[in-house]
Amino acid sequence: MKKRIAVLPGDGIGPEIVAGAMKILQTIETLYRHQFEITYADIGGCATDKTGTPLPNETITICKNSDAILLGAVGGPKWDSLPVEKRPEQGLLKIRKELNLFANIRPTTCYESLAASSPLKEDIIAGVDLIVVRELTGGIYFGKPSERRLIDGKPGAVDTLQYENEEIERVVEKAFEIAKTRSKKVTSVDKANVLETSRVWREIASQVAEKYPDVILEHMLVDNAAMQLVRNPKQFDVIVTENMFGDILSDEASVLTGSLGMLASSSLSAGGPYLYEPIHGSAPDIAGENIANPLATILSVSMMLRLSFQMENEATIIEEAVNNVLNKGFRTRDILAPNCTIVSTTEMVEEVEKEI
Ligand code: NAI
Ligand code: MG
Repeated sequence: MKKRIAVLPGDGIGPEIVAGAMKILQTIETLYRHQFEITYADIGGCATDKTGTPLPNETITICKNSDAILLGAVGGPKWDSLPVEKRPEQGLLKIRKELNLFANIRPTTCYESLAASSPLKEDIIAGVDLIVVRELTGGIYFGKPSERRLIDGKPGAVDTLQYENEEIERVVEKAFEIAKTRSKKVTSVDKANVLETSRVWREIASQVAEKYPDVILEHMLVDNAAMQLVRNPKQFDVIVTENMFGDILSDEASVLTGSLGMLASSSLSAGGPYLYEPIHGSAPDIAGENIANPLATILSVSMMLRLSFQMENEATIIEEAVNNVLNKGFRTRDILAPNCTIVSTTEMVEEVEKEI
C-alpha cells in the first residue's frame, strides 16, 4: 500500500541531510517495491522568508494528511532578531502541538567503531544502549504566562512550568511500554525536592508503574541524572522526563555516541502521524558546505520505516548499512578519528547506499 510522507527540510544543513536521507528512502523503495508518495513543505526560517510565518497552514495540512513526517532542522542567525512569532523554533513548537506529538523518543546507542571519538573513556561508554523519552508538548516551553514584566516594580521576566496530570501519565506510560520490550527498567527523572510539578510527576509515575509489574521504576533527581549519565551511563535503560530536562539530558547523552550527528529521534502522538528528525539543529556554521553528517537523518528514516510502517527488515538493513560504513572507516568531519577516510555528506550517503 502507498505510504504518504511529508518532508520538511527546513534551514541550514536541513536540506542537505534530508536530500541524503531521501536517497536512502528511494533506494529502499526500489529494492523492496514499496510506494512512497512524497510531499515537500516549508517550515522554519525559510517558511518565514516565503510566507511571513514559520509554519504555514499549508504545511500543517500536508502533515496531517500524511502517514509520517520527516524533518531536517530549523533556525539560524539570520532569523534571530525577528519577533517571537516569526522565529523558526516557533514552527517546530507549533507542529508538535498541532499534531499532539507528546512523546519524543531518543535512542542512544554507542557504535563500537565510534567509541574512540567520544570524549568519554571507552570502557564507560562501550555497550551503552539507552532511550530518553522526553515529554514534548507541555512544561515550561508552553506554559503561560511567558513574558517580560515588572516584578515588584523592577524589570524582569516570567516563564511558567505547568503540567496536567494526564499529560504526565500518557508519556510515562509510553516509557513503560518501551521498557517492557527491553531490559525492563524505567528511570523517571524530576526535581521533586524543589518543584511541585515534579512531586506530582513522581506520584503519577509510581501509579503507572503498578500496571507494569515486570518493569522496575526508579526515581532520580535531574542534577544527579546529569552526573550519572557521564559517570555510569550503562545503568540506564529507559529515561522518562519532562520537556526541558529531557531536552538537556538527551543532548548530554548524545555525546556518549560520539556525535550529535549520529542521533535520530521520533515524536509520537496517540494516533499518528509520527514525526522523525535528527536531534541536532541546523548547524549554520557548516551549512551549504556538503560536510554535515547525514547519518542521524538516515537513521530517522529507519525509525520511520520501523515505527510508522512496520518495515522491520528494511529498518534493520539501513542500520546495518550505517554500521558497516562506520566499520569500514568512512567518516564525516564531526566523527573523524585517526586512520579513517574523511567523506562529504553526499559521499557518506553513497557509501550507505552501496551497503544497502
Ligand atoms: P546545532 O545542533 O545546530 O549545532 C551544534 C554543533 O554541532 C555545531 O558545531 C554543528 O556544526 C554541529 N553539528 C550539528 N549537527 C551536525 C551534523 N549533522 N553533522 C556535523 N556537525 C553537526 O546546535 P546550535 O548550533 O546550538 O543551533 C544552531 C541552530 O539550530 C539554532 O538556530 C537553533 O535554534 C537551531 N536548532 C534547531 C533544532 C531543530 O530544528 N530541531 C534543534 C536544536 C537547535
Ligand atoms: Mg535540544
